[in-house]
Amino acid sequence: MSIICPSVLSADFASLGDECRNVLEGGADWIHYDVMDGVFVPNISIGLPVLKSLSKKVEAFYDVHLMITDPAKYVDAFAEAGAKHISFHIEAQSDADSTIDAIHNRGILAGMAIKPGTPAEAVYPYLDKLDLVLVMTVEPGFGGQKFMADMCPKIRAIRQKADSLGKKDLLIQVDGGIDNVTVPYVAEAGANVFVAGSAVFNKEDRAAAIAAIRKAAQNSAGFVL
Ligand code: DX5
Ligand code: ZN
Repeated sequence: MSIICPSVLSADFASLGDECRNVLEGGADWIHYDVMDGVFVPNISIGLPVLKSLSKKVEAFYDVHLMITDPAKYVDAFAEAGAKHISFHIEAQSDADSTIDAIHNRGILAGMAIKPGTPAEAVYPYLDKLDLVLVMTVEPGFGGQKFMADMCPKIRAIRQKADSLGKKDLLIQVDGGIDNVTVPYVAEAGANVFVAGSAVFNKEDRAAAIAAIRKAAQNSAGFVL
């Protein structure tokens, strides 16, 4: 099972609704919605009002990736705006346990994101409560960066730990530099939720781009890094 999540960061924001419809018709499973505050990461993207308008017009599973300080403060508002999954960074300044609880209290999925410099072990205390772990495969902040292949052992370690805890259904999401060339490596390491921004939105034929990523993820045997 592969979940493909085009990241709107590479979409044309002047026609965001049409852009999302286009990738959904092209086979996207989730819409990855990147929120950046210019403090936690050195970039500013989009926030609550845009998600609220978008989710009213375009029905989708909105996968909200919060790259902001104090994410707990905004969980309720993003859930009300249409988020179906919220991931927050463990490096941001919110109590992780209560942030996960706040997300679950809204009846949606909870994910914990880790930057490239944060070790796998950081998520272990929370694995039993989490629906998803997001392993960043670039430094968060910008689309179109180069995939960090050295994140593969971290993905593998998290998958093994989850399996050892009997948590076979943990979703492991990867984000940054994912395309049909890099995806087999992260899939083979244990990831099953794939964010792709530029590899989908910068292509003329988005359906073909999504299909190519899905196919490459499914044919990952032997792609070990
Ligand atoms: C980066 C964002 C990503 C970004 C990925 O901080 O979290 O979701 O859009 O873009 P690509 O797929 O182009 O690396
Ligand atoms: Zn993201």
